Amino acid sequence: MIKILILTAMAVAGAPMAVGQTAATTTPAATTAASAQPDYHPSLGDLMTMAVQPRHIKLGLAGKYKNWPYASYELSELRNAFARIARTIPTYQTVDTAEMMIALTKVPLVALEDAITNQNTAQFAAAYARLTQACNACHQSLKHAAVVIKAPDAAMFPDQDFRPSPQ
Ligand code: HEC
Repeated sequence: MIKILILTAMAVAGAPMAVGQTAATTTPAATTAASAQPDYHPSLGDLMTMAVQPRHIKLGLAGKYKNWPYASYELSELRNAFARIARTIPTYQTVDTAEMMIALTKVPLVALEDAITNQNTAQFAAAYARLTQACNACHQSLKHAAVVIKAPDAAMFPDQDFRPSPQ
């Protein structure tokens, strides 16, 4: 492994090839080494899948189980994830991501916060439905209407207990 890395580094630096290495075997390795730089740039789709979707699901489950301390935590995680995404991808299809996110999600996020403070399940369900509508409104207006979000009907995190823990 070390030998391959050294040979790759030499090939990238334009050093003469080691005996027995052919151009055909060094080129793919050189390409891999170049793309393995730590500058991974996630797309909006990546960030939605890794930072937004699981939190939307977990927030829904927290409300379902009336686990208010956890719902409060997860709401803050989701809110911060939106803010970080807007900083990471400031413009999408010429649209200002932060502006769009705030315009669509601010009101439902505040409504969820109120519902959690009041520990009110009905209020939570209504606010959660509004948030889910906001997800879809954004997908529709940014030409991704095929991405349809709904309230989760099953937990996909088999290692996490969403019921309130004894304090
Ligand atoms: C500011 C607009 C905006 C908001 C708000 C938004 N999304 Fe997205 N989302 C997008 C865009 C645009 C894409 C497509 C990105 C791409 O693939 O380039 C996307 C893609 C996704 C995907 C990827 C689909 C897939 O199957 O790979 C998921 C999942 C997703 N969003 C979930 C959500 C959820 C859940 C919410 C609400 C809690 C939400 N999004 C709110 C703009 C938004």
